[in-house]
Amino acid sequence: MKTLHLKETDEDFDRGAEIIRDGGLVAFPTETVYGLGADALNPDAVLKIYKVKGRPADNPSIVHIADYEDIRELAAEVTEDMEILMKTFWPGPMTMIVPAKEVIPKVTTGGLDTVGIRMPRGASCRELVRRSGCPIAAPSANISGKPSPTEAQHVIDDFEGKIEAVIDGGPCQVGIESTVIDMTGSIPMILRPGILTRADFERALGKRILLDPTLNRKPDPEKAEHFRPKAPGQKYRHYAPKAPMIIFEGKDPEQVRGAMDAERLEREQLGQNVCVIDYEPGEERKAAKHFFARLREADREGVDVILAAALPENGVGFSVMNRMLKSAGFNIRKVD
Ligand code: TXA
Ligand code: MG
Repeated sequence: MKTLHLKETDEDFDRGAEIIRDGGLVAFPTETVYGLGADALNPDAVLKIYKVKGRPADNPSIVHIADYEDIRELAAEVTEDMEILMKTFWPGPMTMIVPAKEVIPKVTTGGLDTVGIRMPRGASCRELVRRSGCPIAAPSANISGKPSPTEAQHVIDDFEGKIEAVIDGGPCQVGIESTVIDMTGSIPMILRPGILTRADFERALGKRILLDPTLNRKPDPEKAEHFRPKAPGQKYRHYAPKAPMIIFEGKDPEQVRGAMDAERLEREQLGQNVCVIDYEPGEERKAAKHFFARLREADREGVDVILAAALPENGVGFSVMNRMLKSAGFNIRKVD
């Protein structure tokens, strides 16, 4: 198969939409990361995404929409809280888990009776939805387990010759995936942290919400069912660079930098190629934007090890640390 390289033009949106309508796969940029899309209501098309990504069948895909009203075709119920969040954060980096209507095939929802819905910012996805007339199921456009793609080249590296088309819209502005918030319980719960934080949701809703208590904790196979992550995707190994990665964490930033520097020098003297990822408190958004790209760059350069400084785990720092901890397989060096 020849993968078409498309741009964000009228003509190319039409070509992309035609591919989606015909049951093919089109990768596209969003403000968070690139998605790999198919007609969400066509089970054969969605199955192709799982095949080409190597994605476990029980990991549901997010369904992307173009306009607020589109949610009514997909959600069995739209509550007042959902309305508030839609109006406040869409189009934007928020995915709401809601009760699913029967029209959504089980391959799309990973067999669940709920569905994650998102209306992204930016032209590509919404144009594809509008022009194809289908909601679009799209996980991140990376081979399962690899870092998420934040540039068209990352998608090409993983899927050239394996998907019908990729739309190049330049680098993604946010750089980490959307915040996933479960609206099906009595109290909303964040299942995957993102650039929109718990504080943002609490301000919008005027009440406390929950964070999945398993987030940013090392997975424990011994633990009972209710200690397992609620979003199926959170339980898989993720975002893994080829090189081993060590996170340096401690109360005193200078001591942490000192320990990282010492480790780097020691390894360089042994002839190793070392990648250092060092964002400081206050640079959380910048860290989010560039983190996945740095991991892919390290892979390309064939580095021997990645040394990363931990960020304070609050606000966006918590969300970046969610990715960093997984990338490193929870390999933490305490510096005290
Ligand atoms: O920013 C994003 O969300 C990007 C862009 C393309 O929209 N998409 C993305 O999709 O990150 P993916 O498939 O890589 O991650 C979706 C996450 C997974 O952790 C999945 O388990 C969870 O959302 N999820 C989806 N539907 C769910 C549901 N019904 N219940 C619980 N978790 C769900
Ligand atoms: Mg993903």
